[in-house]
Amino acid sequence: MDNIVSWSAEDEAIIATNTDATECKRCAVELGYWKDDYIPYFIRHVDRKAPEINRGYYARVRAMEMFIHQFIERCGTKCQIINLGCGFDTLFWRLKDSTQAVGNFIELDFPAVTSKKCHIIKRNKQLLEKISNEDGEVMIREGDLHSDGYHLVGCDLRCLGEVRRKLEAAGAGEGAGAPPTLVLAECVLVYLRPEAADALLRHLAAAFPRSALLVYEQCNLGDKFGEVMVRNLSARGVALAGAAGPPAAQAARLRALGFDAARCWDMHAVWRALPDDDRARVEALEMLDERELLLQLNSHYALAVATRSDIFADMDLNA
Ligand SMILES: C[S@@+](CC[C@H](N)C(=O)[O-])C[C@H]1O[C@@H](n2cnc3c(N)ncnc32)[C@H](O)[C@@H]1O
Repeated sequence: MDNIVSWSAEDEAIIATNTDATECKRCAVELGYWKDDYIPYFIRHVDRKAPEINRGYYARVRAMEMFIHQFIERCGTKCQIINLGCGFDTLFWRLKDSTQAVGNFIELDFPAVTSKKCHIIKRNKQLLEKISNEDGEVMIREGDLHSDGYHLVGCDLRCLGEVRRKLEAAGAGEGAGAPPTLVLAECVLVYLRPEAADALLRHLAAAFPRSALLVYEQCNLGDKFGEVMVRNLSARGVALAGAAGPPAAQAARLRALGFDAARCWDMHAVWRALPDDDRARVEALEMLDERELLLQLNSHYALAVATRSDIFADMDLNA
């Protein structure tokens, strides 16, 4: 039976981190960092963010995309993507507009977030038309949205039984017959207690023998700058329950949870690995006075890639 996890004021604050992420992404999109035709549906107006924040978000979104494309290149589009703590992420729609729309795309978040996302999708034809099948059928049942190839389900990632039930309802194949599976955890696991995140990842590694996992989140929270980050978030009611360690420790943790291989880079390394023309374009968008601050921020966020199955073993920053 699932552990009972009671709803708390902290959960409210964690849910609010989705609004922050969506606002920052919309701001960077408006300034030309990357293209996303769908983000304006999810957030109306945003104030301008500092250039180091915009650049940080660019590296985050670009790095996630880079690995998502590598994954699809290796296994084709007859695969599934599971987006943990999806918030208002627009990846599904962006992939639909590319040649890399995948067979099944499953998004999970707290019901408070998924029901809002569901409501926004229903109200906007441009979002809705991309998820309905030829008959236009979209089923909304108990706040969850199911359609042919897109599922948006509400659950608490700390309750493994609930996650498993929701994945099953969303048609996620498990075990030897499961399609290649990409699991995304963009800024979410750090909000879970380590035991809960470990149980979730251990299950996913066992359930999907041909899979890759991308984890983007804070790292090096034990140093002085990290302590300030933790304090600032805690002042807003968010405790980083899974306080993240250095990248090497994050990779070792993923291997210990059942992945065959795992690597993790801080975002400074990720930034340096981006193609030169890409970096030059982005650097020309805004003047950056706070270089030191950007360096500090980049060394306190990391991207980890963990894989099961040899076909994904060569996924790399420079692949
Ligand atoms: C910082 S936002 C990131 C959203 C999205 N992944 C992105 O990067 O734009 C964190 C998301 O994780 C979700 N989340 C955190 N803890 C969760 C839990 N225990 N169960 C379900 N969702 C959770 C929050 O509701 C929020 O939408």
